[in-house]
Amino acid sequence: MEYRYLGRSGLKVSALGLGCNNFGMMIDASKTKAVVDKAIDIGLTLFDTADVYGGELGRSEELLGQALGAKRKNVIIASKFGSAMGPGGGLDVQGGGSRGYIMSAVEASLKRLGTDYIDLYQIHRPDPFTPIDETMRALDDLVRQGKVRYIGHSNFAGWQTADAGWTAKTLNLSPFISAQNRYSLISREIEAELVPACLSHGVGILPFFPLESGLLTGKYKRGEKPAEGTRYAAWSGRGPGITSRFFGDDKFAKAEQLQALAAKHGCSMLDMAIGWLLSKPYVPSVIAGATRPEQLDQNLAASAWRPSAEIAQEIDAISPPPAGVGMPAPQRR
Ligand SMILES: NC(=O)c1ccc[n+]([C@@H]2O[C@H](COP(=O)([O-])OP(=O)(O)OC[C@H]3O[C@@H](n4cnc5c(N)ncnc54)[C@H](OP(=O)(O)O)[C@@H]3O)[C@@H](O)[C@H]2O)c1
Repeated sequence: MEYRYLGRSGLKVSALGLGCNNFGMMIDASKTKAVVDKAIDIGLTLFDTADVYGGELGRSEELLGQALGAKRKNVIIASKFGSAMGPGGGLDVQGGGSRGYIMSAVEASLKRLGTDYIDLYQIHRPDPFTPIDETMRALDDLVRQGKVRYIGHSNFAGWQTADAGWTAKTLNLSPFISAQNRYSLISREIEAELVPACLSHGVGILPFFPLESGLLTGKYKRGEKPAEGTRYAAWSGRGPGITSRFFGDDKFAKAEQLQALAAKHGCSMLDMAIGWLLSKPYVPSVIAGATRPEQLDQNLAASAWRPSAEIAQEIDAISPPPAGVGMPAPQRR
């Protein structure tokens, strides 16, 4: 396992992390324990969850805390706040980034996780109503109190990343060190605006849906029924809207071309999906989800793969970066 610094910080994380939104949603307590034990066995240290994950809200945090037990002190727990915890969920009376909401959300997460600190506390989505300085002052207080060690954001745009970066600098507050946004071989929109902003402000990017919910493992074939127990099969019951976002024809078409490219170069599409992300200097860790221990062995092996310049060009031809990418990257201030 390789370890890397997360953004401009002293926090080191494993290059292969683990997304924990399956806990409680796809797998129960004993299967979660098997996955977490395996993750620790292979040297994985970064576990990413959120207060809202788990099918039943809060269940992912609970299952993660239970599965880690005394090993909690050896790992990095990343969690999130700011999405509605149930109908209304308190967000009807105050913003998800407001001081009041943050102070109560952190206590609830600490309790569910069974810990007295969260290593990386991330705002799940921008709160359009609360001024960013209010959010950052509240988070800075949590850092000073020791309840939170580092802070990150998720689903922020490039301008919001820059705005928050300057807010931290000018008000002398703890800066966001990570951005969590959708990013994969076939979802490259963030390269236009978010990536340059993160490079400029020392923010590391933790891609979510790095495997496009399993599509980039090659286990799904267009027109074929997905195997029982897989996420695609589970989501198929929830209507075409959700499956088309992840398994639509355009996504399948790109995945089929990437699969052929991988075969040509003697690697797997999974290698490409994880190794290509880790070849980006702004991606310290790939927090792919897993529902079985064996998947972690495969994902670890994939984390050692890197594209040659030739393969990277061939990937760009299949799944081009957004317009404007290729301008000189800004230098860190
Ligand atoms: N910040 C946000 O708004 C946001 C949004 C979404 C996700 N996230 C975070 O990002 C993490 C990663 O995203 P994700 O887990 O939803 O999707 P993902 O990493 O793209 O896909 C994970 C799924 O791929 C399958 N898989 C993994 N390894 C495999 C292997 N070696 N072979 C075959 N199949 C494999 C598993 O599906 P099966 O269950 O079918 O086996 C697994 O559940 C989440 O867990 C969560 O922490 C954040």
